Amino acid sequence: MSSINENTFEPEITVFMCIYCAYMAADTAGALRIKYPGNVKLIKLPCTGKTDRRYLLEAFEQGADGVCVVGCPIGNCHHVRGNERGLARVKHAKKILDDIGLGGERLQMYFVSGGMGNTFANAIRDITKRIQELGPSPLKATQSKKQE
Ligand code: FES
Repeated sequence: MSSINENTFEPEITVFMCIYCAYMAADTAGALRIKYPGNVKLIKLPCTGKTDRRYLLEAFEQGADGVCVVGCPIGNCHHVRGNERGLARVKHAKKILDDIGLGGERLQMYFVSGGMGNTFANAIRDITKRIQELGPSPLKATQSKKQE
């Protein structure tokens, strides 16, 4: 049983985002002062096509309870089909997470346009809520047992 109170559990979320639509949407959210959960680590990528399964899995090793990838809408990637490649890697990484028992639902991909500050904020709220329901990453429990 987790020592963390479910009601106060604030998940750590790692967000991989492209520097085009996703970053602009995050910037728009900031400019419009749209609030979203603050316990996020933002990592910029030139395009979600640069998403590497290893980056996604290492984010969990480094303490993330949930990870998401945010990119341009399908058909609007600045690198043509990079977001489709990114989505394929996210799907593969979700399967790996299921296979190793961490749970593929801890990883999500979202698509936003640059002006969609609200949509970006909603994506962060969505992944945060999902992870709050799932609880802390099982990897954290394993790591803290090793330290005991
Ligand atoms: Fe945004 Fe490719 S440049 S997903």
